[in-house]
Amino acid sequence: MSPQARRVESLHTDKGYVPVYTTAVVEQPWAQYTPVEHDTWARLFRRQREVLDGRSCGEFFANQERFGMNAEAIPRFDDINAILARSTGWQIVGVEGLLPELTFFEHLANRRFPVTWWIRKPEQIDYIAEPDLFHDLYGHVPLLLDPAFADYMQAYGRGGVKAHGIGADALMYLTRLYWYTVEFGLIRQRDGLRIYGAGILSSKGESIHCLESAAPNRIGFDLMRIMRTRYRIDSYQKTYFVIDSFEQLMRATQPDFTPYYRELASLSTIAAGDVLDGDAVIQRGSGEGWSVDGDV
Ligand SMILES: [Fe+2]
Repeated sequence: MSPQARRVESLHTDKGYVPVYTTAVVEQPWAQYTPVEHDTWARLFRRQREVLDGRSCGEFFANQERFGMNAEAIPRFDDINAILARSTGWQIVGVEGLLPELTFFEHLANRRFPVTWWIRKPEQIDYIAEPDLFHDLYGHVPLLLDPAFADYMQAYGRGGVKAHGIGADALMYLTRLYWYTVEFGLIRQRDGLRIYGAGILSSKGESIHCLESAAPNRIGFDLMRIMRTRYRIDSYQKTYFVIDSFEQLMRATQPDFTPYYRELASLSTIAAGDVLDGDAVIQRGSGEGWSVDGDV
């Protein structure tokens, strides 16, 4: 019998019904994973390796291999941490699930990435609404070995702690930045557009859609533009933002954002699918299949 996540309560928010877990860091109960859970990891791992071949950024598979991640078994957090400690100094910590914003930011600011210890059920192979071990470990952790991306994540966490002290609007702008980079970002590399966002890397359908579908917009990275743009939580993104390098992301988060927040307060928000005159458009989406409302 596999251990259960300790869900303490649920909240109704503007993003729907959100489970809240204990905020404690927990040991990964590795010995208690069942054969079914290891098999779920194996199936997801093999499937995404195939789908992401030629679609994920060059660093992604290379870094998974440095970690020794494979389909054999759910990786042990201790093994991952031994390798992280020798490279970028990050650590992963086991958690029960989504954390309150400030707790999450404090982890990132201290180069700790929270990883949900439990994995989805076999019937959730194609879709799970909240992050599980596969999303966090397979999708997010490999890029923590990239020095520029690792620094970006820490800068983001520090910015988050600061934004938390400023107010709800500042947090909203930062959440959009995380969404359109860390979760759903694309990068232009030598051989074309590639995926680095973990929300895409852990989704078979969106891995194909984001690069090959005519429906979404693909637009060059623009920090202020992104922080004004609403997004989708219930469907594939209408717009993907494309960076040229992880250094570009890191540079964009060097300045203090406080003046940006003031400026953003006077600017209108942008719907998830809108294209503006000043956008660096790589592809203007056809909009096929888009629902008309539901941006958050
Ligand atoms: Fe995520």
